[in-house]
Amino acid sequence: MNIDNKLWGGRFLKKSNQLFTKFNCSLKIDYHLVEQDIFGSIAWSKSLLECNVLTTKEQKKIELALCILKQDVKKNKEKILNSTSEDIHSWVESQLVDMIGPLGKKLHTGRSRNDQVTTDLKLWCKDTIPNILFSLKKIQCDLLRKAELLYDCIMPGYTHLQQAQPITFGYWCLAYLHMFKRDTNRLLDSLKRLDVSPLGSGALSGTFCSIDRDALAKRMNFNSSTENSLDAVSDRDYVLELLSVASISMIHLSRFSEDIIFFNSVECNFIELSDSITSGSSLMPQKKNPDALELIRGKTGRVHGYLLSMLTILKGLPLSYNKDMQEDKYLLFSAMNIWMNCLNITILVLRNMIVNKSICLHSAKKGYSNATEIADYLVNKGVSFREAHFIAGKIVLEAINQKCALEELNISTFKKYHFIFEEDIYNKLSLNSCLNSKNSKGGVSLRQILQSIYNIKKELY
Ligand code: ARG
Repeated sequence: MNIDNKLWGGRFLKKSNQLFTKFNCSLKIDYHLVEQDIFGSIAWSKSLLECNVLTTKEQKKIELALCILKQDVKKNKEKILNSTSEDIHSWVESQLVDMIGPLGKKLHTGRSRNDQVTTDLKLWCKDTIPNILFSLKKIQCDLLRKAELLYDCIMPGYTHLQQAQPITFGYWCLAYLHMFKRDTNRLLDSLKRLDVSPLGSGALSGTFCSIDRDALAKRMNFNSSTENSLDAVSDRDYVLELLSVASISMIHLSRFSEDIIFFNSVECNFIELSDSITSGSSLMPQKKNPDALELIRGKTGRVHGYLLSMLTILKGLPLSYNKDMQEDKYLLFSAMNIWMNCLNITILVLRNMIVNKSICLHSAKKGYSNATEIADYLVNKGVSFREAHFIAGKIVLEAINQKCALEELNISTFKKYHFIFEEDIYNKLSLNSCLNSKNSKGGVSLRQILQSIYNIKKELY
């Protein structure tokens, strides 16, 4: 007698403790895998037909029932949650048995939940990654569009949050575009590695059914099948990889958020965020807070935590499957969901902000961000860089004392620091000249920016 009507009830004489049953149950989280579980089960039933465990008639009956179940569940996945099944694999099997009777129990022949769960999860990753890739592409297209519009909008560039050298808003957009391009490549790369089917690995040492595992893998659109079953059921590298890719991309999103929060501050006022993506203060009527961006910054911490949790769960875990691994799905589902949301919110922010071009320009003029040009000017006239740097520093100090910009100092002041200064120093000090002097690949000259835009456009479209 099967005491609890569990998948594994035969060996047990006592009922499960209720608290333990609840603790052991993963349905609340893995019900998200229902479509993948059914898809994998149909593929498995075809392998069972191949090796004569099922007759054609039986396989057809199982397949039809699973298709009906899939259609049914697609409309309302949450209804699965009313069940007391231990996990999604038991749920699908119990539904099948309800639909077609004892024949349903044949489906699990030669299969274990250990190879099943990692197959389902890999299939889920393969279904989810394209959605993230789509958002990553959208964000790059939006950044490109902004870069084209604002390629020559001069603003200060920062190091140590101190005005350093002038850049343009378009150049800043392109910097982020490159980060999201790398995220895309990292994601595609991890997809390549996870695209290997573990189904047919059994519990840990393979399946007794003489099936063609490569054909089974192809049936599920996997690129190939795993070589070692002990590894296949233990492997969660792909979860770690996706959490890492998500964590790195979240770093980019949070740095983007921080930059925008700073640009949006009253002190900078470089940009204005639309009312539609900001919120107010319940006390201070003047406030318009960049909550969306602060939340991205905050949620980055959560995603990083999920990566660390997964690393910690797997560290020192003996081969092969251990129940610890059940925790993987909560972490992966949550991280991917947060990443996706944050990408989409960032796209919304990009589309709902106005850049105050004249304020950006005005600010770039204020911060002595053209001081490096003085040193470069002297170097071009044969002065050593060290000496030139020192002289430029002194001239900046002079300008600070006179409360004026470098280009407002008269020529005799310049000459006081080095006889070699001539009137042409004023040309050098213009912001356009600062930008255009950085004209080798990757530099901020308008020519390089346009070249960069051209190159990216060719790749993106
Ligand atoms: N719910 C389990 C998980 O998510 C499925 C595998 C269970 N395997 C087992 N031998 N108990 O990891």
